[in-house]
Amino acid sequence: MVGAVQDAGVVVTGAGGGIGAALARRFAAEGARVVVNDLDAGRAKAVADEIGGIAVPGDASSIVGEARDALGGTVDVYCANAGVAFGGGNADKPLDEKVWATSWDVNVMAHVRAAHELLPGWLERGSGRFVSTVSAAGLLTMIGAAPYSVTKHGAYAFAEYLSLTYRHRGLKVHAICPQGVRTDMLAATGSAGDLVLKPTAVEPEDVADALFKGIEEDRFLILPHPEAAGYYQARAADPDRWLTNMNHIQQKWEEAR
Ligand SMILES: NC(=O)c1ccc[n+]([C@@H]2O[C@H](COP(=O)([O-])OP(=O)(O)OC[C@H]3O[C@@H](n4cnc5c(N)ncnc54)[C@H](O)[C@@H]3O)[C@@H](O)[C@H]2O)c1
Repeated sequence: MVGAVQDAGVVVTGAGGGIGAALARRFAAEGARVVVNDLDAGRAKAVADEIGGIAVPGDASSIVGEARDALGGTVDVYCANAGVAFGGGNADKPLDEKVWATSWDVNVMAHVRAAHELLPGWLERGSGRFVSTVSAAGLLTMIGAAPYSVTKHGAYAFAEYLSLTYRHRGLKVHAICPQGVRTDMLAATGSAGDLVLKPTAVEPEDVADALFKGIEEDRFLILPHPEAAGYYQARAADPDRWLTNMNHIQQKWEEAR
């Protein structure tokens, strides 16, 4: 497997901390040349300096060209990892258009824009790898977080679309769908995160391990929490039963607040 990323040009967005930083460290440890992107220039530089990578700060949507140039013209692996999570979005509260728009932009459209820019080269060469840090919220639904749940479903659908459309043309796609991961984002999830995410949270390095195992086994769906597969099956097998169970968690959360 090491050979799959040895000397590869890799871009990781949102890699100034959390899961992105763990992915960047792991790719670098496996011998890849890594572009470390983050909105926060200082954090991007700190991680890039640590791993011998190249910092390309800025919004994930706008750095693909610069990142490709920094890697000598070819991106072998693109990790669409940057994401935003806003709680709320409940339909009985005032509509916050800005929260919805930012969630779409970062959690979905940044992936779409990157794919548009990178696909022509990947298809021409007959190889490329698109790694999407989705969330279990993209397979299931996170209580108390409508914009996050909806846009992560969108990110998952886009990854699926890429995989089913281009797998015979050499594109590898991985959708990473963790439940809780101990990062700044998890710390900010408040009481909903306390209830459903924190008890089973894993470390960012566990997510990187799961991705590399998935690359080795050539698997699309990467589940750092294997139990998520059972929840996903239960949702598909009996939607009403699954929704009733999720609503029990919602009620528990309302009582705890
Ligand atoms: N932490 C969890 O429990 C968890 C679970 C499932 C999925 N995820 C997903 O993992 C990904 C990484 O999250 P994390 O937990 O490491 O969070 P984090 O907050 O630790 O890191 C996210 C990083 O992305 C950066 N960022 C935000 N918007 C950006 C943008 N537009 N362009 C470039 N960088 C941007 C932030 O500055 C931050 O450094 C996200 O997509 C998130 O939705 C997280």
